[in-house]
Amino acid sequence: MLRNSVIGDVFIELSEIDSTNNYAMQLINEGMAEHGMCIRADFQTHGKGQLGNTWQAEESKNLLFSIILDTQGFSLQKQFELNAVACISMAELLMTSFTMKDICIKWPNDIYAEGKKIAGILIENNIRGTAWSNAVIGIGLNVNQQTFIDVNRATSMYLLTGKTYKLNMVLKPFLKIFNQQFKKFQQNVEIIELYNSMLMNVGKTVMFKRNHEMYSGLLHGVDKQGNLEMSVQGKMKSFKHREVELMLD
Ligand code: BTN
Repeated sequence: MLRNSVIGDVFIELSEIDSTNNYAMQLINEGMAEHGMCIRADFQTHGKGQLGNTWQAEESKNLLFSIILDTQGFSLQKQFELNAVACISMAELLMTSFTMKDICIKWPNDIYAEGKKIAGILIENNIRGTAWSNAVIGIGLNVNQQTFIDVNRATSMYLLTGKTYKLNMVLKPFLKIFNQQFKKFQQNVEIIELYNSMLMNVGKTVMFKRNHEMYSGLLHGVDKQGNLEMSVQGKMKSFKHREVELMLD
C-alpha cells in the first residue's frame, strides 16, 4: 500500500455512500487504497455502528468519515492501542480545539460530552493469518444536528455550544491531532495511561452486567489489550470487551 506521510492529505469527499467504512474497504480490496486516505461523506444510506447496529445521521449535519491505515509490521496486540489513539484524538479535539467541557471516553470507544454520546468509532481490521494488514477507522461525530431520536443519550456540538460549524473546519484539527497521536503509536509511546485518564467513571464504583446479572465493581481502568480492570468484592478482575456491559449512572 502506498504510504502518504501525512494522514488526511489524500482526501475524498462524497455526497452519498452506503458507508464510508465500506467505501474504504472496497478501495483496499481493489488495491486502490493508500495509507492515510481520509474519506468523508455528507450522507450514509447504511452507516454502520458497533455490534451490527446502524449509525444514523442527518444529511450534511455531521462528520462521517473513515481513515485507511497501513498496519503492516505492527503486532496484532496493538489493536486496542489504535482504538485508544482514535478515542484520545476525538476527546482531545473536543476539549482543546472547541473547549468543550465534561468530555470522556466510555469504554471501549464511545466519546461522551456532558453525559451523552457525541461520537462513535468503528474500527474494521484486515488480518491475514497472524499479520495485521490494514485498518479502517470509521468515525461519526455529531456536529450540527439539533434533534435526536434518543435525546437522553445523544448530543451534538451544536446542542452543547449553541454554535454551528463548517464540517471540514472540525475535521482539519482532528486530523492534525490524529497525526500526532498516530506518530506516538508508531514510536510505541505509552498511551493507555492517557486513555485511562479520560475514561468515564474511572476510580468510581460502577454497575455492570455480565451474563444477564448485575454486579458492582471499582473501575481501575483498562490494560494494553483493552480489558477492563475492576475490583469486584475486593478481588481484582479483568474483563474482555463484550464480556461485560458497563451501566451508565
Ligand atoms: C458506534 O456504534 O458508536 C460506532 C459508529 C461509527 C459510525 C461511523 S460514521 C463513518 C463510518 N462509516 C460507517 O458506516 N460507520 C462509521
